[in-house]
Amino acid sequence: MARIVGAITTSHVPAIGKAMARRLQQDPEWKPFFDGFDPAHRWLDRVKPDVAVVIYNDHGLGMFLDKMPTFAVGAAAEYRNADEGWGLPVVPPFPGDPGFSWHLIESLIADEFDITSCQEMLVDHAFAIPMNLMWPDKQPKPVRSIPVLVNGIQHPLPLPSRCFKFGRALGRAIESYPEDLKVLVVGTGGMSHQLDGKRAGFINKEFDRMCLEKLVDDPQALTRYSIQEIAELAGAQGVEIIMWLIARAALTGHVSKVHSQYRVPVSNTAAGLLVLQNAAAA
Ligand code: DHB
Ligand code: FE
Repeated sequence: MARIVGAITTSHVPAIGKAMARRLQQDPEWKPFFDGFDPAHRWLDRVKPDVAVVIYNDHGLGMFLDKMPTFAVGAAAEYRNADEGWGLPVVPPFPGDPGFSWHLIESLIADEFDITSCQEMLVDHAFAIPMNLMWPDKQPKPVRSIPVLVNGIQHPLPLPSRCFKFGRALGRAIESYPEDLKVLVVGTGGMSHQLDGKRAGFINKEFDRMCLEKLVDDPQALTRYSIQEIAELAGAQGVEIIMWLIARAALTGHVSKVHSQYRVPVSNTAAGLLVLQNAAAA
């Protein structure tokens, strides 16, 4: 059976992608941030996942405001990247796993989550940057991937309480797949940030630290916030933390923290990283 080895949640700030493209990893300004991924790389080398299920929000590349599914799952043989306007280099396509995708889609719908299935899906910076952060300089990536798109831009967004239940259902869907696969769950976005308006540059370290703590041992605590409350506390784009909540909720066993980092600001954003190990429930 498929087994969830753990989760990695990380911000997906385009400036990180630019720094990687310019090979600034050793630059004094960027070194501490990129060094913060070393423990994640060591852990990935050890657990060697076969498949990454990547929960992310599209920013107007694969979907746009005219048509925005609340939850969608990719079911393609590969996922092409393109630049939606940040000037980032386009990266090679990410191989998929259509058989596993269709299992997830069927399981989620049987579990009352009427997601959109996407047999073609362009993936934006929110997908590509975390993949490059986890496996820098590895091409192709050593995993097949399955994008899980969650609406993070066109209100109304899904309730955090619904996201938690969706994550639980996604975990059940993954672990009911009969193939012996090691699966990594990834959540991208956050942490606190607001890109425009009067509060542009808004960061809330206290809220972010609370999230980093609760996501390890008590993720359900975050379901007491509404999307509006998260936007107030974490900035308009800070609502992307729901991707982290879904990823964490997918972990079904005993969860322990392998590593975390928190750096402010990276671009306009509080950049966070959390590596969680999932030991199968006894
Ligand atoms: C930034 C952060 C994001 O999450 C994003 O999607 C785009 C830009 C930023 O901080 O610049
Ligand atoms: Fe974003």
